[in-house]
Amino acid sequence: GLNLPKLHGSEAHAILKTAAHHLCDLHETVVFPTETVYGLGAVATNAEASAKIFSTKGRPADNPLIVHVSSFGMLETLLPPGYEYSKAYRALMENFWPGPLTLLFPRNAEVIPTIITAGQSSVAIRMPSHPVARALIAVANAPLAAPSANTSGKPSPTRAEHVARDLDGRVPLIINGGACGVGLESTVVDGLNEDGNIRILRPGGITVEQIEQVLRKEYREGERIPRVLVHKRDYQDETQEAAPTTPGMKYTHYSPSVPVTLLSTVSKPPMGESPTSMKSYLERVSSKQPHPPKIGLLAPSDSKIWAAVDECEGPTWHRFDLGLISDPSMSAQRLFDGLLTLEAEGVDFILVEEVAETHEGLAVMNRVRKAAGDVEWIEYS
Ligand code: TXA
Ligand code: MG
Repeated sequence: GLNLPKLHGSEAHAILKTAAHHLCDLHETVVFPTETVYGLGAVATNAEASAKIFSTKGRPADNPLIVHVSSFGMLETLLPPGYEYSKAYRALMENFWPGPLTLLFPRNAEVIPTIITAGQSSVAIRMPSHPVARALIAVANAPLAAPSANTSGKPSPTRAEHVARDLDGRVPLIINGGACGVGLESTVVDGLNEDGNIRILRPGGITVEQIEQVLRKEYREGERIPRVLVHKRDYQDETQEAAPTTPGMKYTHYSPSVPVTLLSTVSKPPMGESPTSMKSYLERVSSKQPHPPKIGLLAPSDSKIWAAVDECEGPTWHRFDLGLISDPSMSAQRLFDGLLTLEAEGVDFILVEEVAETHEGLAVMNRVRKAAGDVEWIEYS
């Protein structure tokens, strides 16, 4: 049955022991909190247990999993014998581990089953910073493969309640560690290319700016600093269609069961398109079916949109604020919670206002664009 134990004090150790028993002895999955989102974990070196992750989520078999470790000693057991870290990887691990950064390593086929990497020659590994995640991996004494603990295609859960609502009856144990601090997934980095550059396969909790800053600091004058390339901005993987670099990129993602529209108020519309005024856009959506609609609205707390909405009568507005425009880490923390909360409130559709694509805003907009079926170009008059 479903179980949401509160994790504190002396109970914590007993819960971790139970969870480790599920993982190691029963070859079962366990849902656990990380600093990014909740994970659906299984012992990574056990193909049978890891297969349950795919069936529970309805995850396509060609989308590989991230392996979570609690120590550098555990990391080394997973890598090819004699593997040496590059200077860039050493800098990234020293500065961002434990934390929301995933690195691709060459796969050691002796220890990593093919189901984990979906046949890729690399394996994605990270060391989470959440104390419960670290403790669970350490008590189980095993690396845990863990995607986000949601049905494939849905927004990732940032609270145990989100998981319970989505995976009820499909997972034997959920460890409740409260709300996740980062709120969206780790940054996935590929530094295995011969050119020595750092490719951001998925923007996430560690920002491009933070990675660039660390590389600038770690390299001496005259040394070639690796470039940080962001997928679709700085490079396009030509083999994307046939064999995507991050296979997760080709699936629809992060969508609640109600339609999501992105309101582009920051970036300029493409050539030939002109923006609609916020007032006339809101009037248009107010007359949508069912009439009057229940509209979910996700926008920064200091956005001009709230005043515009106050003037727009008819719909029932369900508001969820993303924190101050000046603090994109707050938008990151609140985005999935907002989508899932508004969905649970039974809104007919959700409007999300654009944030600037700097710092955590890059990852926020990456998730919003994947969740949104439509984009509207809007200007405040
Ligand atoms: O923050 C996170 O990373 C969370 C928590 C639970 O740790 N996990 C997570 O896992 O987001 P998931 O499965 O939802 O996303 C894993 C991403 C996918 O985009 C997948 O395609 C990519 O990592 N990935 C995994 N292994 C890869 C590999 N060998 N090569 C390229 N991309 C890989
Ligand atoms: Mg996911």
